[in-house]
Amino acid sequence: MHNQAEGLLKDQPKVISVASGKGGVGKTIIAVNLAIVLAQRGERVLLFDADAGFANAEILMGVTPRNTLKDFLQKRVNLESIIFQTPYQVDLISTGMDVDDLITFNLQDKSDLYHNLQRVASKYHFVLFDFPPGFNEELEKFYGSSDHLIMVTASEPTSLVNAYTFVKLMTVKGVDPDGFHIVMNMVKDMREGRKVMERFVSVITRFAGIPITSTHLIRYESLIKDSVNKQTPFVAVKKISQPALAIYGIADVVTKKQTIKKMSFIDKVKALFGVG
Ligand SMILES: Nc1ncnc2c1ncn2[C@@H]1O[C@H](COP(=O)(O)OP(=O)(O)OP(=O)(O)O)[C@@H](O)[C@H]1O
Ligand SMILES: [Mg+2]
Repeated sequence: MHNQAEGLLKDQPKVISVASGKGGVGKTIIAVNLAIVLAQRGERVLLFDADAGFANAEILMGVTPRNTLKDFLQKRVNLESIIFQTPYQVDLISTGMDVDDLITFNLQDKSDLYHNLQRVASKYHFVLFDFPPGFNEELEKFYGSSDHLIMVTASEPTSLVNAYTFVKLMTVKGVDPDGFHIVMNMVKDMREGRKVMERFVSVITRFAGIPITSTHLIRYESLIKDSVNKQTPFVAVKKISQPALAIYGIADVVTKKQTIKKMSFIDKVKALFGVG
């Protein structure tokens, strides 16, 4: 029975969610560059830009998808035609709206979406979701059913407090992804950053009881600002830099072979869109 289940789930894509308590901490930068590194390693990757925020994935990659999820939901096009092939071997779906807006679509629309998404996603090894900041009912379901939840925080106190609240909410709401990773971004002093991370992890372990799979530090570097301005992701520009090495580290952890998954892809998508 075990083997049968394993066989059934073997070809399922792994779902990676990139989230944060506070906005502007580097989620999109990390999602885009991680997606590219995974693709560089031969993985088939779909990046789902579920954040209609300012510096979204398409801007960072310098591409303009013709259609978005909104076009699909308004029944103008099929799901395949909104998948945009970026020059980085990463396929991209832009929502053109916030995940919250999905609530306004009816159950039939959502049901259509997850059936279509299931078909489309089966072609990929990884589906990465770049979410808007925060924690709400829609997002929480999806965080919990991810294979990997990457929580991004900056190293300054306000961001850390938000990150702590995020983790506390995970405990309260019973959000339990298979892998939980903490990325501290925009670290100006790496030695100090490592200490801050150590303290943060010990607080989480003591008071929130969420097991942490891995931790990563990304230095504050002008290379990242430049890559945003040039609309070219930094892993595609300079392969050896601290931020690139950090992304390789995240890619190493998420590509590790894992034990059997708790949920099938269809269940994860159902959970996200609140059907079934
Ligand atoms: N390590 C870094 N070094 C320097 N600048 C950085 C770094 N990380 C992020 N930034 C800057 O912060 C900006 C915000 O990053 P990003 O858009 O990825 O954040 P976000 O968490 O996705 O924001 P939102 O919550 O609005 O979606 C980037 O445009 C970039 O200029
Ligand atoms: Mg973003």
